[in-house]
Amino acid sequence: MTPTTGRDDAVVQAVGLVKRFGSIRALDGLTLGVQRGEKYGLLGPNGSGKTTLIRSIVGLVAPDEGEVRVLGEKVPSPLTSSRIGYMTQSAALYEDLTVRENLFFFARLFGTPGQTADRVEEVLRLVHLTDRSGTPVRALSGGLRQRASLAAALIHEPELLLLDEPTVGVDPELRLVLWDHFDRLNALGKTIIVSTHVMEEAERCGRIALLRAGRLLAEGSPLELKQGAGAASMEAAYLHYASQADGGDGGRRSSMTDEGRRSSRTDGARRSSRTPPKGGAADEG
Ligand SMILES: Nc1ncnc2c1ncn2[C@@H]1O[C@H](COP(=O)(O)OP(=O)(O)OP(=O)(O)O)[C@@H](O)[C@H]1O
Ligand SMILES: [Mg+2]
Repeated sequence: MTPTTGRDDAVVQAVGLVKRFGSIRALDGLTLGVQRGEKYGLLGPNGSGKTTLIRSIVGLVAPDEGEVRVLGEKVPSPLTSSRIGYMTQSAALYEDLTVRENLFFFARLFGTPGQTADRVEEVLRLVHLTDRSGTPVRALSGGLRQRASLAAALIHEPELLLLDEPTVGVDPELRLVLWDHFDRLNALGKTIIVSTHVMEEAERCGRIALLRAGRLLAEGSPLELKQGAGAASMEAAYLHYASQADGGDGGRRSSMTDEGRRSSRTDGARRSSRTPPKGGAADEG
């Protein structure tokens, strides 16, 4: 497989990443590249390495092998942290502070362009939390916490946004609002890397990496991936590439049907991509 690395406009270049936790290879020779302005999805079942990859990009996980470069800097780098927004899978906010206090805290930590107070109000409106802004985080429901975490990740207007399952626990209406917002940020030139279990969310990305067991099964636009697999749905495409990687045993190990990924409609927006799908994990890592 030819890695999508080495281009001038690469925002993330991960090459040959291996991360072991005891006997588990959370990342198993993963190579991928994300270009400036992309909306890039990471799709894979529980334990496929999405969070580990994101944390390697942020610099919170040190790979055992391989390297990551972000915005031209080898990770970890103090030069990039203020340019990255990271929304963790579990909310990383101060429980005893109110939503607004948390946002002020992160604004001061990372710095905001323009007036901090204005920016705080702006992100509160963005995630529909203005009327709950005085509530301590510990008193928020799961979905409201997700919104507050997203607000914190956006506060300093980062040019690279890493969103680890940003819509888990969020109701369908807000889910659409959030994705519309991701689209707007993306249209403004922000690069977005988003992990998800939800097929129609993945289909809103320009390109998707299909992951399993720390490996890249295939990469491409949603349409390319489906066409390359001869599949009508992204779920069927995933199973095709997984089966291919297994040497055609039907991809039993690759079910995307457990918790969190029952939603497999494929009527989401389709985007074209600059690169063709790249199938076959056999040559990856
Ligand atoms: N800190 C850790 N210590 C031990 N094992 C870990 C650690 N972090 C991740 N793992 C293991 O590495 C593998 C990949 O985990 P990771 O969290 O990256 O997967 P994921 O794709 O994000 O899964 P999910 O969809 O459940 O969030 C799993 O087997 C997980 O148990
Ligand atoms: Mg995860």
